[in-house]
Amino acid sequence: MNHKTHELRVVKENLSTLIEEAREILRRNDRGGYTVPTETLYPFQWNWDSAFCAMGFACFDIERALTELETLYSGQWASGLVPHIIFHQNSDTYFPGPQVWATHQTPPTSGISQPPVTASALAYILQKAASSSPGVPLDVLTRAKALYHKILAYHDWWASERDPDGTGIVAILHPWESGSDNSPVWDEALKAVPPTKTPFQRRDVTLVDSDMRPRQWEYDRYIYLVELYRSLGWKGETLWSQTPFKVADVGLNAILMRDERDLIELAKTFDDHANAERLTERALNRRKGFDRLWSTQRGLYLSRDLLSDRLIDVPSHASFLPLWGGSETSERAGSLARELSRWISLSRFGVPTISPDHADFDQRRYWRGPVWGIINWMLSEGLRQHGFDALADGIRHDTARLIQQSGYCEYFDPITGEGLGGGVFSWTAAVGLAWALD
Ligand code: SER
Repeated sequence: MNHKTHELRVVKENLSTLIEEAREILRRNDRGGYTVPTETLYPFQWNWDSAFCAMGFACFDIERALTELETLYSGQWASGLVPHIIFHQNSDTYFPGPQVWATHQTPPTSGISQPPVTASALAYILQKAASSSPGVPLDVLTRAKALYHKILAYHDWWASERDPDGTGIVAILHPWESGSDNSPVWDEALKAVPPTKTPFQRRDVTLVDSDMRPRQWEYDRYIYLVELYRSLGWKGETLWSQTPFKVADVGLNAILMRDERDLIELAKTFDDHANAERLTERALNRRKGFDRLWSTQRGLYLSRDLLSDRLIDVPSHASFLPLWGGSETSERAGSLARELSRWISLSRFGVPTISPDHADFDQRRYWRGPVWGIINWMLSEGLRQHGFDALADGIRHDTARLIQQSGYCEYFDPITGEGLGGGVFSWTAAVGLAWALD
């Protein structure tokens, strides 16, 4: 019996304990209608964290899963934007708080977004609801339909405010919008942003080792961008024309594409044929837009800096997310699978967010190397959709082994398997319930 087979057997033997532990984490991080990603480090509701939590809850409590999304959408703006943080209550363990954002919303929110996963989450909830009872209960359908209309408005916001020219590819205006805050992919574009002149005190590095977090030069620019957008009154068009940071993140675009595919299915479920058609048209345009992100030289996708109109030649986990996003040609899918498999062969646990043989690889620092459960889920299922089952299974098994070895941590060292970051973490628990241990 080889090493990996042995570790897998251990996971199976402990399955019920691990599942109970994951449910307990979601319950413990429940603040009444929404789930904090983890205690103290992230004391509010985060957009994509919440969507994954909803999928975790759907494995044992459909009502609570729907509530998670409803509470998230209570922070939606009139423009359709779903902000990346909803500040439901005060806390002094996080910076920047609502006063720094000053978006003047009720409830208070940040002013930027995050990768959209809520249509995928709602589709997952309905699928779970259908499998646990003969027909999806009427009240579940009614609540889901109300959410569907809000998600539609959110997608229209992405199209109108983050792709006003209709290229099919949306832009992020802040590294935080990518969800992979300090990925080396942003380094060059971020260096063109000036640092803030306002002194501020970070809270994250008082709670987590600083070698696991973004560096100070990055934070100085994160805060500059927030202050700039605040001074522009958070008006979409003005932000678009005045931002010094505008990047077509291939990861966000792939996740958006997948979310929109799930949204089209929801439109059909709710007999909204006009919107199903409109979204299908948009999806075709998105497909074309992805060609602008393909690097023939590397044989994979890259993000594009829209200010210089150049591909950013730094591959990351995001380069492979189009497998999750949609149907790739077998040639492109094969090229992605080969490179991904090479990355995995260089680490003990897949999937590192930066290749271990890249100069910027840093095995402990947040999005510059560590393994993330949610990313593994999307990559593995994306590979499966394209017929790479063995590779997909390997990633799922690695995720289960990491959870077994180190618990439901925020992220993991791909070389040692050590758990890193903010400790007991909601979306890793959700990934365990909804996918890795399912
Ligand atoms: N992920 C970011 C943080 O660490 C912001 O959403 O604060």
